[in-house]
Amino acid sequence: MKRVLNFGSINVDHVYTVEHFVRPGETVSCRKYRRFAGGKGLNQSIALAQAGACVCHAGKVGAADAWLKMLMEDKGVDTGFVQPIDGPSGHAIIQVNAEGENSIIIVGGANQLISESDVQSIVADFGSDDYLLVQNEVNAVPQIIQSAKAKGLTVVFNPAPMNAQVLNYPLELVDILIVNEIEAQALTGESEPDRIGEALSRRFPQTAVVLTLGDKGASYFSSQARFFQPAEKVHAVDTTGAGDTFIGFFLAELIKTSDSEIALQWAARAAAICITRHGAADSIPSRKELEAIQ
Ligand code: RIB
Repeated sequence: MKRVLNFGSINVDHVYTVEHFVRPGETVSCRKYRRFAGGKGLNQSIALAQAGACVCHAGKVGAADAWLKMLMEDKGVDTGFVQPIDGPSGHAIIQVNAEGENSIIIVGGANQLISESDVQSIVADFGSDDYLLVQNEVNAVPQIIQSAKAKGLTVVFNPAPMNAQVLNYPLELVDILIVNEIEAQALTGESEPDRIGEALSRRFPQTAVVLTLGDKGASYFSSQARFFQPAEKVHAVDTTGAGDTFIGFFLAELIKTSDSEIALQWAARAAAICITRHGAADSIPSRKELEAIQ
């Protein structure tokens, strides 16, 4: 069976439910505080597993947060490459407003301690049938991409959160690039979806691009095909993790069916359910749940 190696972050999410995002100089009381499992890496691994893919997560977590590793295992993620360290885990401070939108600050912690030898030894376990998934919440992203490509893995990159360093990453080695509008704008300077697609296809002709457009939907561009998948309309209570759910389901379904159009449909359905629930990892549905409400 094809495996996904997800080299990704593992965070403790501190979620503050607020009336509106706190403004400069303002102090607000939150309506509710909750602690959840999160991290774009962890969320995407759980989404892949919940969607039925075989996923091995690689990353680092504070030894005091064994519950995060256990949660991944309970959800079906292979955590053999998750290393507990003697130090703090990554964490996120998340405000969720009355519209269910979020605003997030991340603190790298253990996620920033990946060494060159970690990358080499872990990637060595995978081969050309397998996929690499990586986001931009861990260090060593260029080395991870280069090592995986050298071993023949299909490289899937989600440059979130976007920063200036991404522009210097070996993006030409990426087979599938999954970006939201803000990330795509930073990469291309374009803001209109079709122009973003054209700019990315010109710059990376071998790369398939999935452009997520929030409550509008998502577009897929490659040298062979173009599709648009509208988002499902639901009442949002917390959009945190919706993008990660989308990515996990998209990739799981793509690996299973090789059909990007069908993969987008499953991804949109799973992300819609995610935003009707609180938290990130905890709000990811299973494929069985999606099948039941078809
Ligand atoms: O994509 C949502 C995630 O971003 C949260 O779980 C938080 O940990 C941040 O990494």
